[in-house]
Amino acid sequence: MCGIVGYVGNKEKKEIILDGLQELEYRGYDSAGIATIKGDKLNNFKAIGKLKNLREKTKDFSSDGFGVSIGHTRWATHGKPTELNAHPHRGKYSYVVHNGIIENYQALKSELQNDGIEFLSQTDTETIVHLFEKHYAQKSDPFSAFELTIERLEGAYATLLISEVAPDTIFFAKNGSPMLIGFDGEEIYFASSDTPIIGKATEVCYLQDGEYGYAKDGEVILFDASGVKNIQKQPLATDKAMAQKDGYRFFMEKEIYEQSSVISDTMIGRIMDDSIVFDELDDSLFEGINAIKICACGTSYHAALTSSYLFERISKMRCDIEIASEFRYKEPLLDEKTLFITISQSGETADTLEALKMAKRAGLKSLSICNVDNSSIVRESDCAILTRAGIEKGVASTKAFATQTMVLWMLSLYIVDKHSIITDEAKAIEIEAMRRTPKALAITEKLHGKLHRLSKRYLHGHGFFFIGRDIFYPLALEGALKLKEISYLHAEGYPAGEMKHGPIALADSELFTIALMPKSMHYDKIKSNVEELSARDATILAISPEPFELADDFVQTLQSSHPMLEFFEMMVVTQILALEISVRLGNDVDMPRNLAKSVTVE
Ligand code: G6P
Repeated sequence: MCGIVGYVGNKEKKEIILDGLQELEYRGYDSAGIATIKGDKLNNFKAIGKLKNLREKTKDFSSDGFGVSIGHTRWATHGKPTELNAHPHRGKYSYVVHNGIIENYQALKSELQNDGIEFLSQTDTETIVHLFEKHYAQKSDPFSAFELTIERLEGAYATLLISEVAPDTIFFAKNGSPMLIGFDGEEIYFASSDTPIIGKATEVCYLQDGEYGYAKDGEVILFDASGVKNIQKQPLATDKAMAQKDGYRFFMEKEIYEQSSVISDTMIGRIMDDSIVFDELDDSLFEGINAIKICACGTSYHAALTSSYLFERISKMRCDIEIASEFRYKEPLLDEKTLFITISQSGETADTLEALKMAKRAGLKSLSICNVDNSSIVRESDCAILTRAGIEKGVASTKAFATQTMVLWMLSLYIVDKHSIITDEAKAIEIEAMRRTPKALAITEKLHGKLHRLSKRYLHGHGFFFIGRDIFYPLALEGALKLKEISYLHAEGYPAGEMKHGPIALADSELFTIALMPKSMHYDKIKSNVEELSARDATILAISPEPFELADDFVQTLQSSHPMLEFFEMMVVTQILALEISVRLGNDVDMPRNLAKSVTVE
């Protein structure tokens, strides 16, 4: 995720862009940059790190009077967070900013390099500006050149381009990444979300995928594949706090809903027709490796535990999981044939970081799966896969978990693929299921409404047991953790088959059992386990595609042939249930008591 702001008009452009980027800094803060054109005068500033560095660099620069300007705050995907990789990227006479991933950038880059163009950055974005200038050299018409450029791009983009050959114009295009246009009379604004333009613009047009065009002389001309389009403007919200949450009550709620789209970002460019590609991994990473050990804390530990089933089942690779704080002091026996994986949303968790350092001292190769580029854990690891969840503000982690699990699932297939120990058919089944994940994460009003109504039964009692088998056991742990974190009610996750070995002694009508009962995996086994609890009067909330007659409450999920799709759908149900219980109890959903988003102490 990155943030984009643009402006065409008479006001002081630098301030509009910097203030706008400030609102988008949550989308990434590896670097920031701005480019302005006023008449024939072009200015460009970039700074690594947070926006305050760019503010400092531009403090003596002013840019009032008519002109155009674009700005960007970066969350690195291609290339390290350096100044050269910061946007805007420039050609000979044009500048571009971009949010998204150009999937075919390697092919485009080779083509442009063959034409003799020298690239300054490692980014996919830089191809856009050189392509534009290549087409302009052929057409001498800036808009045709921009149109031809957009036609060549595959992947996700929201992009703004300015050029000395059209100094009064901003060219824009949107496909898969967010972008809107704000209007206030003759003043025209662009942004990745509406917060940067609230208080500035009075009306807004939310662009749809496939739309592109240009802004000039106080007017926007909009196109899609079928030609010129009417611009649908609507009044702009005036409440910034609400806008940051995109109309949701809490960041956690927004992040639960976002999962369906961010999981696509996690997959983009990594799932090909018949294989998994991680450009960031060196082919030699798995050479000589015969086992995996994963260390993590909290929610990330639950993603790790889920993946242990996948690595053994899909990749046929021995996989051990450790809670990082335990691993550190157990004097573990480490073997150089083991790949050491750390999972961390923040990349700063002290226990996980120390575990990684221990493994490195023992000579193990290391891989981190993380949401924050350039974080301590990423820097410390031999290589890293970014989960691309975007910044998570709710302390109770949701989309970070979903994207970690997705990366691990893809990694389990990537490994087998390297060793050719999977049939094409089996591989196709996994890939097809992966592609269907965004749908499994979509939330209907009906489902949310039902969970809201159900939640009132679950505000008291002497405890919750979330139960499941196989990958649904770590999901049960995660469901219980979510509930604990934001409701402050006691909840445990347990393997369903293990309840009879002790916990069943607690069963009575005040014991709430949240039963994860997927149809695609061990349904009859878990059904028997739930029946045993029901026979002892436990209150049962069953989550399953199959109606369950002994359930006190029932949430029906979709029938699916792949357990991971059932996993993701049930994950959403447990997240919303926890959220609704917390809201009814009047708790602070986004900042629950005693917790912190990132724990950098032992
Ligand atoms: C804290 C957070 C948890 C998180 C854990 C691990 O305890 O409150 O939500 O799961 O740290 O964090 P990490 O950033 O390493 O995933």
